[in-house]
Amino acid sequence: MIVYFSYTADNTRRIAERVHVSVGGDIARLEPVTPYEGSYDEVVRQGQEEVERAYEPALKPLGLNVKDYDRIIVGSPTWWYKMAPVVLTFLSENDFTGKTVVPFMTNAGWPGTVLKDMTAVAEKNGAKVEHGHEFRFSSDSRRFDRMVTSEKELEQWISTLKQ
Ligand SMILES: Cc1cc2nc3c(=O)[nH]c(=O)nc-3n(C[C@H](O)[C@H](O)[C@H](O)COP(=O)(O)O)c2cc1C
Repeated sequence: MIVYFSYTADNTRRIAERVHVSVGGDIARLEPVTPYEGSYDEVVRQGQEEVERAYEPALKPLGLNVKDYDRIIVGSPTWWYKMAPVVLTFLSENDFTGKTVVPFMTNAGWPGTVLKDMTAVAEKNGAKVEHGHEFRFSSDSRRFDRMVTSEKELEQWISTLKQ
């Protein structure tokens, strides 16, 4: 199972879809019940407020159930040095006992503690965590979608997930 959230430039979505094409399984996008609306700067401010109080927004039904999968690959953009709030909801509200979680994240150069935090929450809920990876994208607002991490690094990481 591959789940992800994406907002800024679909960076996390594109990586999730690359994994899906190579590894198979099922893929779903995490969506908050109340969508993020307004200008980019407004959402950046709202995101800061939510991250600072460790808010866990309610999620729309995913259509997939963690119970049906052995391995869950979870992707989050970095929001204020942390995972995006919807990803925190997903990792907090599921039981991963007996399952493997593979966390990955995208950032624009300030990765903060996202991977460490995703690992900690998944482990707290029973997961074995492996192959976590960070992907860096441009911090230039005209090119938020440009991957700085090499294509080769992405390919290598995906190939470890095929084994
Ligand atoms: C609310 C918000 C907060 C962000 N905070 C950070 C941050 O702390 N560090 C960082 O490197 N990038 C930060 N970014 C940039 C995104 O993490 C980066 O562009 C990411 O690749 C976007 O992924 P997406 O296109 O899947 O949403 C932030 C973006 C938003 C919208």
